[in-house]
Amino acid sequence: MLVSILISVGFLLACGLVLAGLLVLAEKNILNYGTCHVDVNSGRKVLDVEGGSSLLSSLAEQNIFIPSACGGRGSCAYCKLKVHEGGGLIGPVEEPYLTPDERKDHVRLACQVKVRRDLQIEIPDELFSVSRFRAKLVHKKPLTHDIVELRMQLLEPGSISFEAGQYVQLESAEYKGHESVMRGYSISSLPSDPAHLELIIRRVPDGICTTWVFDHLKEGAEVFFSGPYGFFHLSDTQAPIICIAGGSGMAPIWSIVRDMKEKGIARPTTYFFGALTQRDLFFLDEFRQLEKDCPWFKFVPALSKEPADSGWTGERGLITDVVARHFPDASKHEAYLCGSPGMIDASVAVLTKNGMSEQNVFYDKFS
Ligand SMILES: Cc1cc2nc3c(=O)[nH]c(=O)nc-3n(C[C@H](O)[C@H](O)[C@H](O)COP(=O)(O)OP(=O)(O)OC[C@H]3O[C@@H](n4cnc5c(N)ncnc54)[C@H](O)[C@@H]3O)c2cc1C
Ligand code: FES
Repeated sequence: MLVSILISVGFLLACGLVLAGLLVLAEKNILNYGTCHVDVNSGRKVLDVEGGSSLLSSLAEQNIFIPSACGGRGSCAYCKLKVHEGGGLIGPVEEPYLTPDERKDHVRLACQVKVRRDLQIEIPDELFSVSRFRAKLVHKKPLTHDIVELRMQLLEPGSISFEAGQYVQLESAEYKGHESVMRGYSISSLPSDPAHLELIIRRVPDGICTTWVFDHLKEGAEVFFSGPYGFFHLSDTQAPIICIAGGSGMAPIWSIVRDMKEKGIARPTTYFFGALTQRDLFFLDEFRQLEKDCPWFKFVPALSKEPADSGWTGERGLITDVVARHFPDASKHEAYLCGSPGMIDASVAVLTKNGMSEQNVFYDKFS
């Protein structure tokens, strides 16, 4: 009895797989969409694209790189753009990510729109300056037990122009049954060193890209990434600044505060770095030196799980509590936050409770 049930289930599964395969083949070979024209930003570029693939990959083939943190699986919502004509109906994967206003504005997920006919699309102008880079890994330096710094020498193109705070999308190589994936990483190096790119990466247990970085990527290897992306950068006001970022969230802040020093921007800035214990701290000497060089800058590391008898004399407790103690009135400040969605949401709640306008809070969620 059990054997015949298993055989029936196996048979049904096999039929399902064969049908799925036939559908893919039909999409590729029988349904020939021919060459489709993609008009980008009202004629700024008109692309001839072979129909049948996703809009995201079709644009990438034509060197227009749309942000995509999930590699086209429809789970990050980074690949939003406007499709004014030819996009077809919104699919079930897209539905949860589109607000009513975005639907009215023709916003779609580029990875979920298939190129089947001529399209009219609109993307932010900044994306025209995104390129794909080939680089050589010059060093991979451990910063803590679970954080490394990567430094890359750019080969082709040989330099990158970006604003401190922006990010790139690193492409992992294939390894042990994992396909290449793309993940976003904030640039930690300085715009004034355009021939190099540095990243600060924390290991995520079983994460595809970070396991590749930690266990497979060797110094001297070729590395590919695209960028720069993102709108996280210093505003041009004179407001004093509160930065909150722990772990690898330090990457864009490290770039922004050193960029301020180089450009002579002396806005009073306090950087709160939250960590569990002393073994999670890094760049302490570098930040102490920055404090000496720049009287407008203050670094406040705070530990939430440091043993009471360890001799640590710095701040203790949750980073949000530490910020609230230092800034009971944050109404005149701007904030720059980087890290996990949970940490950012908690920080926004504390800052707005202490008087900061939500418009003055800028962040990049590492989601
Ligand atoms: C704009 C942006 C900038 C970023 N900058 C940085 C940076 O400078 N440094 C850095 O280290 N990371 C950064 N990230 C996060 C990074 O893009 C990846 O999400 C992260 O490295 C995990 O990738 P993975 O392929 O190893 O894990 P995946 O294979 O994608 O995920 C494996 C599992 O871990 C979970 N997971 C995914 N990400 C995290 C996380 N961050 N913490 C805990 N669990 C997670 C997933 O839900 C999944 O269950 C940034 C993300 C964004 C969107
Ligand atoms: S690439 Fe992630 S949702 Fe489209």
